[in-house]
Amino acid sequence: MRRPFIAGNWKMNTTKAEGVALVKGVAEGNTAGDAVEVAVCAPSVYLDAVATAAAGKVGVGAQNCYHEASGAFTGEISAEMAKDIGCQYVILGHSERRHIFGESNSDVCKKVHSVLAAGLTPIVCVGELLEEREAGKTTDVVAEQMYGSLAGVTAEQMKSVVIAYEPVWAIGTGKVATPAQAEEVHAGIRALMTAKYGEAISESVRIQYGGSVKPDNAAELLSQPNIDGALVGGASLKADSFLGIIAGAT
Ligand code: G3P
Repeated sequence: MRRPFIAGNWKMNTTKAEGVALVKGVAEGNTAGDAVEVAVCAPSVYLDAVATAAAGKVGVGAQNCYHEASGAFTGEISAEMAKDIGCQYVILGHSERRHIFGESNSDVCKKVHSVLAAGLTPIVCVGELLEEREAGKTTDVVAEQMYGSLAGVTAEQMKSVVIAYEPVWAIGTGKVATPAQAEEVHAGIRALMTAKYGEAISESVRIQYGGSVKPDNAAELLSQPNIDGALVGGASLKADSFLGIIAGAT
């Protein structure tokens, strides 16, 4: 059984005070207990304060990191630093990193290795653009991102990886993939993992869906056999709506 995993990606939002209040609201309002793994991924400058406020009741993740542990890399943070201030997760290869900041699969792959080396859980994002979907290329794009971003990751390491399928056309647009559309790609991602790592590993890896997840569509998406959680943007910025999505996972 894969435990559902709901993570909030706050992106470049909130003040420090808002972030602290938000994580406290999630911690206090979450009645799912151990049935659902819950995390918030805050802007890096607030991670320390948010992790302190989370007090172990809600997981905390960074939204990105650089692949080196330390050194002359102005403006960057490392997985080791995220770990040092209490993070358990790092989102990697989000479509905004890939498309706004030009990250390649090879960049993402180096980061995946650094996050695993730090003992943290990488949430590795993949997903196609609208024109790629319309051209029938979804499977090829996702396969290239999966294999490119996970090159050199062993079967043992794969047990610690979370995949997030985020169709780019559904991010922040209010256009959610239908449960059937999302399930089709999730099943394809699991088949890719089975081909590379075998069934036992593949069946243990959680695949989150991301893209306009809201309280009113979460339960149906999460009821699909290969949708094991959600990576939530806009709706994670209000405790009530994020808690509604967590409830949809129970
Ligand atoms: O990482 C989550 C995200 O990209 C989805 O954003 O606002 O569509 O839930 P949103």
